[in-house]
Amino acid sequence: MDYPERFENLPAYAFPRLRALLDGIEPGRDPVAMSIGEPRHASPDWVGPMLAEKAAGFAKYPPNPGPPALLDAVAAWIARRYGAEVGTDRLMALNGSREGLFAVSMALVPERKAGAAPTVLVPNPFYQVYAVGALAAAAEPVFLPCTEGTGNLPDLDAIPRDALDRCALFFLCSPSNPQGAVAPMGYLRRLAALAERHDFRVVCDECYSEIWRDAPPPGILQAGADPERVVAIHSLSKRSNLPGLRSGFAVAGPETMRRLRRLRDYAGAPLPGPIAEVSARLWGDEAHVEASRARYQAKFALADRIMEGIARSPEGGFFLWLPVPGGDAEAAVRRLWAEEGVLGLPGNFLAREAGGETPGRGHVRLALVAGEDELEDGLGRVRRCLWK
Ligand SMILES: Cc1ncc(COP(=O)(O)O)c(C=O)c1O
Repeated sequence: MDYPERFENLPAYAFPRLRALLDGIEPGRDPVAMSIGEPRHASPDWVGPMLAEKAAGFAKYPPNPGPPALLDAVAAWIARRYGAEVGTDRLMALNGSREGLFAVSMALVPERKAGAAPTVLVPNPFYQVYAVGALAAAAEPVFLPCTEGTGNLPDLDAIPRDALDRCALFFLCSPSNPQGAVAPMGYLRRLAALAERHDFRVVCDECYSEIWRDAPPPGILQAGADPERVVAIHSLSKRSNLPGLRSGFAVAGPETMRRLRRLRDYAGAPLPGPIAEVSARLWGDEAHVEASRARYQAKFALADRIMEGIARSPEGGFFLWLPVPGGDAEAAVRRLWAEEGVLGLPGNFLAREAGGETPGRGHVRLALVAGEDELEDGLGRVRRCLWK
């Protein structure tokens, strides 16, 4: 039997690759897991009881774009967070942001652009679904290096003209995974202008927007763009420490949203009613978000102290992007596991080779999700192991 060729060259996902890298190596000490970005702070204690109380809602098919009460709560959150007035016709609930990040390519990438196959521009390294959505839509993913030299964001002046002219979607992640970089307002404005000039849309993955070090990251909705040119994607996974709830939303211009909703009517999975009700309450509550952020900020201070002179804590999100001595992240990850039982992720496992370079080859990504004591222990081991 034949299989689609467009997925043939996908590398193994980062975590199976990590298991293969460490296969047969015993941890040198009791393990400290810092590889997966799974939040571990508490979520509000009313979430479980409320889900149980609303369980009768599982007996009903939920509305495809999300129930009005959830969309109202999201619109109110957007108004508070970004000062932007957005009608509920511009919103759609998502089963977590990953679903939306895939669906945007399916719904919005045309068959041809400027007389050829369209491109989808993707930061490199990146959250992998961006490129898979592009392939599924028969577009050509073009990887834009995000290194220290480019401020860990795509260099908007270095994109080949042909890739820009054929561009259908430009994925930006801010705060970024893995580097923790925040795109400043000036950058977002320049990107919006570029989208206008070359007739493409910007999809901004803002799922880490509520976890920040010094100041709330600006959002693409504040960049003054034509609403049809931007799609922003948000999630409760990191904001509310509920990655298993599978709840997020997309916001876009009315026509763009009409297209996204129409595809969902046929092929999407709406958010179950009880989860939507809990989500509406979560978007309306900032106290738990502030408490979680304060813990992350304390951990950032801890990381800055332990890694002084080596790495700085992220501007946003919860990953420490650690440059390793010798520049070989895979060797460093093997050594951290074998000598100290610390599990990190080689940065290049989140990147693709492009133009002979694989960005991230010299960095290990460490998730700052463990409790404070475990984190202090883990980071101390990393420092001693790689810089002794
Ligand atoms: C950059 C980025 N985008 C999206 C997601 C997906 O989050 P979810 O689907 O849980 O909202 C993640 C999860 O780790 C992520 O790191």
